Amino acid sequence: MARVVAVANLKGGIGKTTTVVNVGAGLALKGARVLLVDTDAQGNLAMALGVHPRRTLYDALVDGVPVERCIIEARPGLDLLPADATLLGAQPIIARRPDWSRVLAQALQPVTGSYDFVLIDSAGSLTPLNVNALVCAHDVIAPTTVEHFSVKSLELLMAQIGRIKGGAGHVRMIIPTMYDPRVRQSGELLAMLRDRYGDRVTPPVRVNVRLSEAPAQGKTIYEYDPRSRGAIDYALLVEHISRAFGFAARPQPPAPPPDPAPAPYRPVSTAAPETCPHCGKALQHTSLAGYRISYCAQCRYKKQELVRDRQ
Ligand SMILES: Nc1ncnc2c1ncn2[C@@H]1O[C@H](COP(=O)(O)OP(=O)(O)OP(=O)(O)O)[C@@H](O)[C@H]1O
Ligand SMILES: [Mg+2]
Repeated sequence: MARVVAVANLKGGIGKTTTVVNVGAGLALKGARVLLVDTDAQGNLAMALGVHPRRTLYDALVDGVPVERCIIEARPGLDLLPADATLLGAQPIIARRPDWSRVLAQALQPVTGSYDFVLIDSAGSLTPLNVNALVCAHDVIAPTTVEHFSVKSLELLMAQIGRIKGGAGHVRMIIPTMYDPRVRQSGELLAMLRDRYGDRVTPPVRVNVRLSEAPAQGKTIYEYDPRSRGAIDYALLVEHISRAFGFAARPQPPAPPPDPAPAPYRPVSTAAPETCPHCGKALQHTSLAGYRISYCAQCRYKKQELVRDRQ
């Protein structure tokens, strides 16, 4: 049965959609079966993945179209239940139903068994559909920029989740986004977050212009620029989330031979340091999208190497 995860924060523009796209795509690259659900009428998930769906969540929620017929395959292993502006019209219709907070859970119920992860993207305000997302999720992941007001809004989010889901509701992970290590306040607020929320705070995603360029091309960060800081940080986050949710990477079917000449296989450089050049700790490794990433859990040193040319 899928782990249903809502990616939520009551603040807008803090990296929810970017996280859903790149965590979802990263999990799919590790062999997970992933469904992304867009509950935001901005419809950013379809744009970010460069797909043009015919049916959306509106059809499933309001017109009773079976949800399977509203889902499209965006990438291998990565499906999408998209949204668009019609969803604005769905909210008042849903809000009038007696079971209004469970309509999303009911709509998704027939398909959740087909996935390892269902990631729900939500709008930056407490709309009826956002309440639905929180009700239907097993876990909530909250991205937050490392800024004073964003950190404050986390407390509000936690209070709302407690109100909606009762005592059991809590934020499973907090993802610091748009982190700029050169800005002193960023470092101080990250330390404060870790102090307050402990190991619920994941490794941060650094500010990286490639992450903001990729959606305009309809590409994930691994497709747009797999060597970028954004790709490395999201790959590490995918590793963190896989471990936390007990998902072990599935062996991938071998890539079809490229046409016309086979792509050269490049083994990982044997010169790769096995210990961190900064602090001497043993390096840890993960691989994603054809890259092997070596990182130090102690001082955040990161290095990535191409393992296999991608088509
Ligand atoms: N780490 C990052 N570095 C630089 N830009 C980023 C980063 N993460 C996200 N962005 C950019 O910041 C903007 C807001 O990000 P995103 O759309 O993911 O936020 P959101 O929380 O989903 O916003 P909304 O509440 O409007 O749905 C986008 O232009 C995105 O490309
Ligand atoms: Mg968004």
